[in-house]
Amino acid sequence: MPFNFDQINERRQTHSLKWDIGEGELPLWVADMDFKAAPVIQKALENRVKNGIFGYTVVPEAWKDAIINWWETRHQHTLGREDLIFCTGIVPAISTAVKRLTNVGDNVLVQSPVYNIFFNSIENHGRHVVESELSYDGTAYSIDFEDLEAKLALPLTTLMILCNPHNPVGKIWSREELAKIGDLCLKHHVTVISDEIHCDLTDPGQAYIPFASVSDVCAQNSVTCLSASKAFNIAGLQSAFVSIPNEALRFKMERGLNSDEVAEPNAFAIDAVIAAFTEGGEWLDALRGYIKSNKDSVAEFLERELPSIRLIHSQATYLLWLDCSRITSDTTVLQHYLREKTGLYLSEGSEYRGNGNLFLRMNIACPTAVLDDALRRLKRGIALYEQEK
Ligand SMILES: Cc1ncc(COP(=O)(O)O)c(C=O)c1O
Repeated sequence: MPFNFDQINERRQTHSLKWDIGEGELPLWVADMDFKAAPVIQKALENRVKNGIFGYTVVPEAWKDAIINWWETRHQHTLGREDLIFCTGIVPAISTAVKRLTNVGDNVLVQSPVYNIFFNSIENHGRHVVESELSYDGTAYSIDFEDLEAKLALPLTTLMILCNPHNPVGKIWSREELAKIGDLCLKHHVTVISDEIHCDLTDPGQAYIPFASVSDVCAQNSVTCLSASKAFNIAGLQSAFVSIPNEALRFKMERGLNSDEVAEPNAFAIDAVIAAFTEGGEWLDALRGYIKSNKDSVAEFLERELPSIRLIHSQATYLLWLDCSRITSDTTVLQHYLREKTGLYLSEGSEYRGNGNLFLRMNIACPTAVLDDALRRLKRGIALYEQEK
């Protein structure tokens, strides 16, 4: 393999959120990866640093070219050049959408368990979270369309935040599911925010379907949030964008992003993304293979050594969703216990609401040797927990 994902990179003492933890602890929680960014990105940033001047930055046409070509070749979807607006992150874009596209007191619908920061963007601005919980049959999640429609039909529901692919359950929504969501949202006058930040982290051979590519209805009633930050591990560079085919929606969002002051790039945000989307494909494919092999190792380990924990089958993201319901119905306690007894730091499922209290989330974007250490800690921690229970 031309890229060495086995290399252990020291992240302590680098002001890393993930690694700013106690000595001996092992963090597999927040969604960033322990791999260095692709060499082409490092090179682009080195060149930028060599220039030595870090003044204000514009968004050039080359940035749009890179993005449009990537979506066309990777995802067979044509993004409109005029539809793209730079923003400093997907969370800032979602907060702007909540403020600009809804009123105080409105309902914003999410499909829980789901990325926890959606709740902040909604509740911090005085809107209500309405959960249409995903149905769980003990092995897989699906959409309860009856429940979804009932909640979209509530008079105060004006916005839905879709997560595609879905964090934390790792599902890629099908064309039929997306079309149905699009039709229901139009019928009930609900705008869709499609957060597609994990779209390039599908398992090898799996493709995601952009919401806006499904139908004109979907395209014209949505804001799609996109970024290179998850797939290329550059979240700290604060570089993302939205794609909005509908002119009226785009105008509102453009005004909102500008007045929230989240529409201007820092000195590294553009060069890194151009490098990623023009030259990063080979690295990304190698990474996807490595993550899949880590995922397979976890599946085998759990089956062999820890059958009380069930891994939810997923098709995307490096975040694994572990069903611990045979052990506990309160994984917050279990998460703290594992951290205290073994140093293994996973995310507690209750943060994602829905039935998350039965789950732990594990970030497997790390060298396999680190993952092996984590799995040994998990096994030891669960054994101790069961003894003490
Ligand atoms: C679904 C989802 N959206 C957004 C983000 C964060 O996006 P940003 O760092 O661009 O604000 C994450 C990070 O894990 C995520 O999982």
